Amino acid sequence: MCGIVGIVGNSAVSQRLVEALKRLEYRGYDSSGVATLNEGRLDRRRAEGKLFNLETKLAALPLGGTIGIAHTRWATHGAPTEINAHPHFVGGVAVVHNGIIENFSEIKDELIAGGATFVTQTDTEVVAQLLARLRREGLAPRAAMQAMLARVTGAYALAVLFDDLPDAILAARSGPPLAIGHGRGEMFLGSDAIALSPFTNDITYLIDGDWAVLSQTGVEIFDRAGNPVSRPRQVSQAAAYLVDKGNHRHFMEKEIYEQPEVISHALGHYVDFIENRVRPSAAAIDFAAISSLAMSACGTAYLAGLIGKYWFERYARLPVEIDVASEFRYRDIPLSPASAALFISQSGETADTLASLRYCREAGLTIGTVVNARESSMARESDAVFPIMAGPEIGVASTKAFTCQLAVLAALAIGAGRARGTVSAEEEQALVRHLVEMPRIMARVLNAIQPDMESLSRELSRCRDVLYLGRGTAYPLALEGALKLKEISYIHAEGYAAGELKHGPIALIDENMPVIVIAPHDRFFDKTVSNMQEVAARGGRIVFITDEKGAAASKLATMRTIVLPTVDELIAPMIFSLPIQLIAYHTAVFMGTDVDQPRNLAKSVTVE
Ligand code: F6R
Repeated sequence: MCGIVGIVGNSAVSQRLVEALKRLEYRGYDSSGVATLNEGRLDRRRAEGKLFNLETKLAALPLGGTIGIAHTRWATHGAPTEINAHPHFVGGVAVVHNGIIENFSEIKDELIAGGATFVTQTDTEVVAQLLARLRREGLAPRAAMQAMLARVTGAYALAVLFDDLPDAILAARSGPPLAIGHGRGEMFLGSDAIALSPFTNDITYLIDGDWAVLSQTGVEIFDRAGNPVSRPRQVSQAAAYLVDKGNHRHFMEKEIYEQPEVISHALGHYVDFIENRVRPSAAAIDFAAISSLAMSACGTAYLAGLIGKYWFERYARLPVEIDVASEFRYRDIPLSPASAALFISQSGETADTLASLRYCREAGLTIGTVVNARESSMARESDAVFPIMAGPEIGVASTKAFTCQLAVLAALAIGAGRARGTVSAEEEQALVRHLVEMPRIMARVLNAIQPDMESLSRELSRCRDVLYLGRGTAYPLALEGALKLKEISYIHAEGYAAGELKHGPIALIDENMPVIVIAPHDRFFDKTVSNMQEVAARGGRIVFITDEKGAAASKLATMRTIVLPTVDELIAPMIFSLPIQLIAYHTAVFMGTDVDQPRNLAKSVTVE
């Protein structure tokens, strides 16, 4: 998703703005730009593609100035060309924008009727054009900003420079986050605190409806109505995280191998390793008092939620209503205040998930969020925050956040079972013991399967389509396997519940179709093996991901069998996530794709 940075500095800013943009690369982008204000003159450099292209332009034609704004653009309205790249300049106004201006076409028509000429296809240009018109009509920069904000609707974060305001950046938030960094004689603006971490960890977050004026000496913040407001300053943890690949080729690889460690952190937060109990902090929602649980999320986080549904229903006997957030928010679901709602999000900023959260809040439900970014909008708007402790996830394809979400959901489901009397103290201890073993088993599996994963992926990289099958919690895992493979290798992949095979997808099976079957030796194993027989009978090439017991029990010929340790059903989804992540990763490496920043994708999706 687009990234914004701004600096009101006491020394040259253009290089520092680009350094800050590099920290936002993980969000995904397809062009970039920087603008500075130097002796009353706005100037800019913009480039298609990676930041390297912008740096090359800046090296050839440097930009002076101690005040500036910069942007990485993830195209929504108009192609990712240099013309459409931000900052947009109109009549002494420079604008960078993240999000969508929903009423842009109405405003654009009006401005064109008033004589304006548009040069880009972006929705952002209407902001610059509107501000320029308001300035021409005689409004001072602050008044123009406020009038513009009253006119535009949608989800946006904005940063604006005026050429007759040499010492200030104006910023506004309605939706996507904006962090203000307090420095020594300098002020900073960023889409998140990670972007600002080289400069400061002293952060103020704007809330929806706020707009602000940053100068060298501080920030003034106003609400929608223009009243001065104060927002708390906090010490951000973002600086503590090294945004560095270590000795890995990609962030995604690093994040896959970090899983045993980060899952230990997550578990440490939710379970007492000595007593083998779920900690009381996991009971921030009164699970005994609710009659059902509504869950919602997007993409991989949704698939974590789908696995969580199996656990809440099995261990806590709690009915769960779950849907992808883009449907959930519009379905007119009859929600009872006797329910609680649980949202899952790595970023805590995903527009559809945030809107679903607000929808449930209006319906009077208790709101919980399983979230990685603890300073995010979702965390701030929840009654109970369940951090996943995964550390920053830079690779666009979610890996460690997924397994940490699962670990937290497993602990919450066990805690809910205890609270509701459906899990006994002995059962709780046994289940927690399985969770506690998990990091060690993950580390062992990661070491053991690496060579197999590489050679299997080499074969898969020659395929056009791949089918994933699973039953029980292995069904959402099959969906996740397919999602991970398609998003980074661009190979078409589908996930199905194994029992659905004969209701349609079996028509696809022939000798060219690899079918990856995820089948731990659990209650469903024999049924999944029957479905594998159906694939084998039609010449399909089976990749069988199973455990030691499953490998011993099945006599079927496969293209490849990946054997994992036999573990309890509770932790199998986390352990079986590892081969599906590595298959996607190595296949993408063989295909030569941009693994960490796959085409068209963004890390944090702050638009609908
Ligand atoms: C896929 C992936 C996405 C995200 C989804 C939700 O690998 O990462 O599907 O899971 O965009 O994002 P968050 O979790 O930030 O709400």
